[in-house]
Amino acid sequence: MAATISSTFLSASLLLLCLLSASRKGCVAFEQQELAAETHHHTLLVSSLLPSSVCNSSKAADKKSSSLTVIHKHGPCSQLTSDAPTHAEVLLHDQARVNSIHSRLAKTLNNVKETAATSIPAKDGSILGSGNYIVTVGLGTPKKDLSLIFDTGSDLTWTQCQPCFVHCYQQKEPIFDPTQSKSYLNISCSSSICGSLYSATANAPDCSSSTCVYKIRYGDNSSSMGFLGTERLTLTSTDIFDKFLFGCGENNTGLFMGVAGLLGLGRDKLSFPSQTAQKYNKVFSYCLPSSASSTGYLSFGNSGISNSVKFTPLVTLARGPSFYGLGITGISVGGERLSISSSVFTTAGTIIDSGTVITRLPPTAYSALRTAFRQGMSNYPMGKALGIFDTCYDFSSYNSVRIPKISISFSGGIEVEIAPAGILYAISRSQVCLAFAGNNVDSKVGILGNVQQKTLQVVYDGPNERVGFAAGGCS
Ligand SMILES: *[C@@H]1O[C@H](CO)[C@@H](O)[C@H](O)[C@H]1NC(C)=O
Ligand SMILES: *[C@@H]1O[C@H](CO)[C@@H](O)[C@H](O)[C@H]1NC(C)=O
Ligand SMILES: *[C@@H]1O[C@H](CO)[C@@H](O)[C@H](O)[C@H]1NC(C)=O
Ligand SMILES: *[C@@H]1O[C@H](CO)[C@@H](O)[C@H](O)[C@H]1NC(C)=O
Repeated sequence: MAATISSTFLSASLLLLCLLSASRKGCVAFEQQELAAETHHHTLLVSSLLPSSVCNSSKAADKKSSSLTVIHKHGPCSQLTSDAPTHAEVLLHDQARVNSIHSRLAKTLNNVKETAATSIPAKDGSILGSGNYIVTVGLGTPKKDLSLIFDTGSDLTWTQCQPCFVHCYQQKEPIFDPTQSKSYLNISCSSSICGSLYSATANAPDCSSSTCVYKIRYGDNSSSMGFLGTERLTLTSTDIFDKFLFGCGENNTGLFMGVAGLLGLGRDKLSFPSQTAQKYNKVFSYCLPSSASSTGYLSFGNSGISNSVKFTPLVTLARGPSFYGLGITGISVGGERLSISSSVFTTAGTIIDSGTVITRLPPTAYSALRTAFRQGMSNYPMGKALGIFDTCYDFSSYNSVRIPKISISFSGGIEVEIAPAGILYAISRSQVCLAFAGNNVDSKVGILGNVQQKTLQVVYDGPNERVGFAAGGCS
């Protein structure tokens, strides 16, 4: 079954490789070169699975207006100095985020509010994990640049603020000081906006010297607490928002590792898309780069949306209305549609999340995917499993490998092909894993994670209640 390897270089895509043990320098990127064009398979050079420590910025963001450059938090394109987590840590944090999403969706909104009304911070709804992407925005007058994690799975935007009354962790840029800005204003406890923190953070607001206090806790025990304020937010020289509501955090702990805070892109009314709806009409798009050594973009408004984007209707989850729900209808491996009853996907539904790393499927669907993928890969020796990955291969004695393509079908009749960077997750040459995992039961919500979104242009179209995908959004 040797694949015909064309010497023609057809396309290159990049995967993330994090080195375990030895250096603990963490994630570095490697380039996965596609050698042969076949309808149902990718052929990739194994030698190109070598670490790249050079940032190859694609400048994808420069071509669009209202666009920010997206970089992976760990890797050569990021200037964050802190140690990157190991693969095992990335997968553990990812599971903590997934558990958090599941527990949030298992509660009714009323229950969330009851919990929130007690004095203990109860936010378990939005979670960080380690496989995250960051953008840089300007805050204040004069503006200060801040690197923020962007997160479609949460709503409140916040940054660490001086005087760090209780605790701030280390961050790359100087910590924002509202007293040095001409445009900062506090929100008072009596303002109705203070009450909107309930739905944005699942926590009751607090009050300190008549100033509104927010608190948000993430699934991995990271948290931020501080004053709710308004500020001038600058995306680009032509995209400036006055009185943007954000959290000025003076007690911040957890795994943020060098970033200044978080940009909330969820559907709640406090989220960035809701607050900027007058200008962008709740339309935004992004492309996550194929590896940490290249860059993608996050764009607001209609600019730069591909003509080839295919849309699927947005689903609103009764128990998690700020998540972006989608309807998966099927999965194909190597061109063959897996036989999975559609009720397997509709039972719990699926959300798309920029902050979950690895896609989680109902176990019935994952097991069908795994069986078909293993069949397609039966020429290759298996490697050791790691954490949530149970289908890994040892490619150490191969020059190139031929892998089945994977595509996911969504309601509305669209089929989206996953890029090679979204099929395999390489720990090392001898441990390259199928980058999907199953939930423990079919009744838990499925999650389309960020690894599977790599290189796709993903479009969020609020007014038309739909999410779209186009291939080749970035490299
Ligand atoms: C950087 O990216 C460009 C375009 O994607 C590619 O042609 C070039 O070979 C890359 N350079 C390196 C050093 O990877
Ligand atoms: C915001 O409120 C806090 C607490 O009352 C206060 O310490 C701070 O000076 C206020 N900032 C501004 C700009 O009013
Ligand atoms: C969060 O902290 C609590 C109490 O300190 C602990 O019991 C729990 O295991 C922690 N959760 C995670 C995901 O670290
Ligand atoms: C600061 O945050 C930590 C972690 O959430 C919390 O345990 C602590 O009580 C907070 N301190 C104050 C003074 O609110």
